[in-house]
Amino acid sequence: MSDKTIQLENQIALAQLGGGEKRIEAQHKKGKLTARERLHFLLDENSFEEIGMFVTHRSTEFGLDREKYLGDGVVTGYGTINGRMVYVFAQDFTVFGGSLSESHAEKICRIMDLAMQNGAPVIGLNDSGGARIQEGVVSLGGYADIFYRNTMASGVIPQISAIMGPCAGGAVYSPAITDFIMMVENTSYMFVTGPNVVKTVTHEEVTSEELGGASTHSSKSGVTHFSCANEIECIQNIKRLLSYVPSNCEEDAPALPYTEGDETRVALNTIIPDNPNQPYDIREVIEQVIDDDGEGFFEVHKNFAENIVVGFARLGGKSIGIVANQPAFLAGVLDINSSTKAARFVRFCDCFNIPLLVFEDVPGFLPGTDQEWHGIITNGAKLLFAFSEATVPRITVITRKAYGGAYDVMNSKHIGADMNYAWPTAEIAVMGARGAAEIIFKNEIAAAADPQQKLKEKEEEYINHFANPYRAAERGYVDEVIMPEATRGKLIRAFKMLENKAVKLPKKKHGNIPL
Ligand code: HXC
Repeated sequence: MSDKTIQLENQIALAQLGGGEKRIEAQHKKGKLTARERLHFLLDENSFEEIGMFVTHRSTEFGLDREKYLGDGVVTGYGTINGRMVYVFAQDFTVFGGSLSESHAEKICRIMDLAMQNGAPVIGLNDSGGARIQEGVVSLGGYADIFYRNTMASGVIPQISAIMGPCAGGAVYSPAITDFIMMVENTSYMFVTGPNVVKTVTHEEVTSEELGGASTHSSKSGVTHFSCANEIECIQNIKRLLSYVPSNCEEDAPALPYTEGDETRVALNTIIPDNPNQPYDIREVIEQVIDDDGEGFFEVHKNFAENIVVGFARLGGKSIGIVANQPAFLAGVLDINSSTKAARFVRFCDCFNIPLLVFEDVPGFLPGTDQEWHGIITNGAKLLFAFSEATVPRITVITRKAYGGAYDVMNSKHIGADMNYAWPTAEIAVMGARGAAEIIFKNEIAAAADPQQKLKEKEEEYINHFANPYRAAERGYVDEVIMPEATRGKLIRAFKMLENKAVKLPKKKHGNIPL
């Protein structure tokens, strides 16, 4: 081997060591993989092609001219996941704590530019102490260059962020602009200011985990869409998520071959309880309707705003996005968090040509000062706006309650749904029967010898009149009242019928969603 070849091999070996053996050991001791190990598990075997392995920082201040590492704390490049091209960056915590320098940012920007030009997803594995403190404003500029690209790429290519270590300060805003965030329990956290600053400013005592760990962000704030038990689960989730989405906004999601067979699902006939006020788990309905493809329902935002369920599945081999009210949690009521959760999901699906299936069982919007003062009006409007603007095929199945404004919001035909089915148990009305009877028969009830008995009678009258799907079907608001067992077959055929749907929105720069 010539000296020059040996020199190259040595350089590669040095780059692969990142910040060195000791720091790699420290990373492992924390229960974390290194950047390269993560990429090894993420990408198809031998598919990774690295870009910028020998890049170093250009800083000379604070002694940095004497401390350089090949790659400068981020491993970037491209590879495949299940044969499909993706662009990746993985921050290397063993080099200056994965902190972002000017060169580090340039490497990330480079692969984002390539991803945009070539129409493939970007996956970022974040593990960083934030801005490279020794570089000052140059590092902040680097962040802004990334934020700008995140924004330009939004809706063009899918962007997925995994948080596998610290993510603090303004650095959190790149993941926040991307489509999905995954966090790893106990080893990752995200916050704008850490516990020390919090203590100084608000006098609150809080740990990093409580302030911005995976469980906080998956249940309280909704910042992360997935909370993963460990890094391997996180990587598996990224791969599974990608299987439902296309590579860019011009393409359709990959489909599995499917031949129609007996699509009857009798188990659906007995899920809705006889008592309309009794809860049931909408996931049981979802599981019966979707393909038994060995994957099942891939739920997004599982622990946040549990009164609405969103996620991906396949129906007739095709990828679909599901939005479903959850009667088993707060009776499936729409509130601020469930509205924003669903709105964001609807917009993602619409960006990337993923048809939407809605299961509706909603008693209305949640009343109260808390909701009003925090803006249920603006936030509920987000969901209304997101559905109204979505041009992908959209189908609704009303399983039980469709009350009040929530009937309109939950993908009604009035706001552009293509098909609306109802089960015989559907109740489509302005409000629940008791409340309605109390208002419209107020005087009659008050004058009755037995007001309670009268109320009951009037409630019955209202139920008979409106607590069914037939008034809506008379108007064509519901296209068909169907037996629950027929739902799957109807949906497969209806989505097939809508496969070539093409709708043009009015010419505009962009809409003004009520943010
Ligand atoms: C340069 C950094 C660094 C940083 C860590 N290191 N963060 N170097 N810039 N931001 C280096 C450390 O000096 C150390 O070097 C190595 O990385 C590992 O750090 P440790 O502190 O030993 O690790 P650990 O105990 O695990 O703590 C990790 C940490 C802590 C919590 C991330 O390092 C930390 O608090 N760092 C500073 C975080 C921060 O304030 N960043 C700026 C945020 S503001 P050696 O040589 O010992 O291995 C920001 C603005 C972005 O990011 C704005 C965008 C708009």
